[in-house]
Amino acid sequence: MKLLTLLGLAGAIASASAAAVPQATSAVSGKTVKVSEDSLCIFMPQHPGEEIAFSEPTAVAFCNSTTAVSDARQIPEGFIKSAHYLAGSGDGKYVQYTGSIDPSKYELKKNDGGGQYDNHGSGNPAGSACEGYPYYVALIEPDIERFCIRCCDNYQDCNAGRSTYGCKRVVPGDFS
Ligand SMILES: *[C@@H]1O[C@H](CO)[C@@H](O)[C@H](O)[C@H]1NC(C)=O
Repeated sequence: MKLLTLLGLAGAIASASAAAVPQATSAVSGKTVKVSEDSLCIFMPQHPGEEIAFSEPTAVAFCNSTTAVSDARQIPEGFIKSAHYLAGSGDGKYVQYTGSIDPSKYELKKNDGGGQYDNHGSGNPAGSACEGYPYYVALIEPDIERFCIRCCDNYQDCNAGRSTYGCKRVVPGDFS
């Protein structure tokens, strides 16, 4: 009887502490991406055709495999035309994808100059995160058909204060 009570208590404590384990990254449903060799995720407007800059506070995660991130949406077929993965290190380790997009596959406007998503401060969108990394920065540039996303250990490698420079400067890589 006593032992059973103890076991029950231990179980209750174990499940309570498991639930209380703090998340490395703040988790708002549908706002977490995973970037790895076999998981390509980006942030995109909630609705097709929305202007990128306008969508910065409301964007959601899209991945090519929704098994990697269960609450992300599926990247529209044909939207990613090319994607190049790179695991690098600057001030710390980072992982990234750079490449080209077909904006028409999500009804994005050809003249949309694009915008940036990042988790600097409270984040744009708020509560957004990249699994396993404290920092991320991601841009979609429909007018020049480019996308990029980088997740970093160190803020210096994911500088969120240079969005107007575009993918080529914020996340240097292969865009072919
Ligand atoms: C997602 O993209 C990565 C990188 O291109 C690739 O290795 C992986 O197979 C893709 N997964 C799916 C389900 O398309």
